[in-house]
This record gives sequence, structure tokens and C-alpha cells, in this order.
Amino acid sequence: MSAVLMDGKALAERIKETLRERVDGMTIKPGLTVILAGEDPASKVYVRNKERACETVGIRSRVIRLPDAVSQEELLAHIDAANRDEAVHGILVQLPLPRHIDGAVVLKAIDPKKDVDGFHVENAGALLSGAPGIAPCTPSGIMELLKDSGVPLEGAHAVVVGRSNIVGKPVALLLLQANCTVTLCHSKTRDLAAVTRQADILVAAVGRPRFITRDMVKNGAAVVDVGVNRCADGSLCGDVDFEQVREVAGRITPVPGGVGPMTIAMLMANTLRAAEG
Ligand code: GUN
Repeated sequence: MSAVLMDGKALAERIKETLRERVDGMTIKPGLTVILAGEDPASKVYVRNKERACETVGIRSRVIRLPDAVSQEELLAHIDAANRDEAVHGILVQLPLPRHIDGAVVLKAIDPKKDVDGFHVENAGALLSGAPGIAPCTPSGIMELLKDSGVPLEGAHAVVVGRSNIVGKPVALLLLQANCTVTLCHSKTRDLAAVTRQADILVAAVGRPRFITRDMVKNGAAVVDVGVNRCADGSLCGDVDFEQVREVAGRITPVPGGVGPMTIAMLMANTLRAAEG
């Protein structure tokens, strides 16, 4: 048996097409400001992809590129200016930030209504309590992909591996909201394979290449791979050993072409929603 692919690239294209039509009908076009501090090569690629998606959808984007040595004060001044600019509806600070900058302070400085990444404590709190707010892009993209693929959510056992604020914790909350029974695993989890083998839905967000192997996956499970890693041979690979796991899983996301494009499509959707007010 070989798993059916959950094609994030194709779904993201369809979502962006729908968003494009909505933007076409708007007199004031949505505006997104992206702040990129430092020289992280992966971040540069992500930011370029976000700019391209904005062009496709019709969102006006501005990227503020700052040197690695930028002071926290200067970074905060850029956020303050974007907060006050009425033409800017969304603000995104690309992570990771240079080591000397306090990420928590920076994320808290963004106007929660413009926080299209959903990382502000106010939006994180809204997600936790089920109040209206902006949900983070990768977790939202995962949920859209599961729903579009027809994966049953209600009553399903969802196992999330990885407890980051960006993916692990928020996706666990969204799965819970969708009436899954959720287990959140991490590096200290005992007998991880015994837990992941119980998953109807398995989300891998650990940042370790090919960490999830065939023996860790139940027959027919839906496997979502959030990882973007460099393998020993220099190629791109996920947190899931795709070639092995596709033989047992029912559905699986590829890397690239799975979760990544969905993250960007959700960023576009969040920006549009922020502009619509
Ligand atoms: N770095 C890795 N993923 C993300 C993301 O979703 N948003 C931002 N701002 N930075 C990231």
C-alpha cells in the first residue's frame, strides 16, 4: 500500500486564487510589512516566497531588510511605524531573530490586530480560550489540509511531536477545537514510538531529519510533516522518513510541497482578514 499525498502546493494555489478574487473587489488593497533581520539563508528564501505570494494575491508588500547587528531599539522603531501606518494591515517579523534581540519583546510590540503570524500573547491567549483572534499560519494550514483531504477529525487521536510556540502548541489547540483527542509529545516523552503508533493523525514538528520512521506509524494514519531540514546529502527533507512511512500511512504530506505552501497561503488569508477588519 502507498499513502495518498496531501498536496499542499495545489491546495495553496486554489486558496490564493480565491483570495485574489476577494482582493480584486477591494478598493483599498491589503498591505503587509515583513521585517527580516540578519542573514539567515532559509529566512531569506521564506521571505522571498512570501513576497511572491503577495504579488499573486494582489497584496502590497514591503520587506524591511535589516543587518544582523541591528539594535532592538531600531527594530522596535520599525514596528512602531508600521503599527501607526494605516496602509499596513499586517506585520510579520521573520524568525529566528539575531541572538542579541529579545524575541518576546519584539513580538509583543506588534499591534495584535496586525499580527498576521498570530504570535502575539493576545492572539495566543485568544487561541487558548477559544476567543476570536488571529491563529498562526502553519497550524491553520495543517488544519485546512487535513479538512480538504477528508481526514476525519472528530474523536480521532491526534499526536503532535514537538512543542514549539509556532507549531506544536497551537496546532494541538486547533486539533482540540476540532474535537480530536490530542497528545502533545516532546523530547522528554517516554517511549515515543508507543505513543505515535496510536495516532490516527500524526503531526511531526521536531526539526530532525527523517525522525519519524515506519515503526512509529499506525497503518492508515494521516501523517503531516512540518519539518524542513537539510539532509546529509544536501537535499531538502522533512521530519518524516517519507519513503518508509508512505508504505504504512493512509495519507502523507510531501516535503517540499506539503505544509510549506499552506503556511504562506494562510499568511495571505490572515492579511486579507486583517485588512477587512
Ligand atoms: N520562521 C519559521 N516559521 C516562521 C513563521 O511562520 N513566521 C515567522 N515570522 N517566522 C518563521
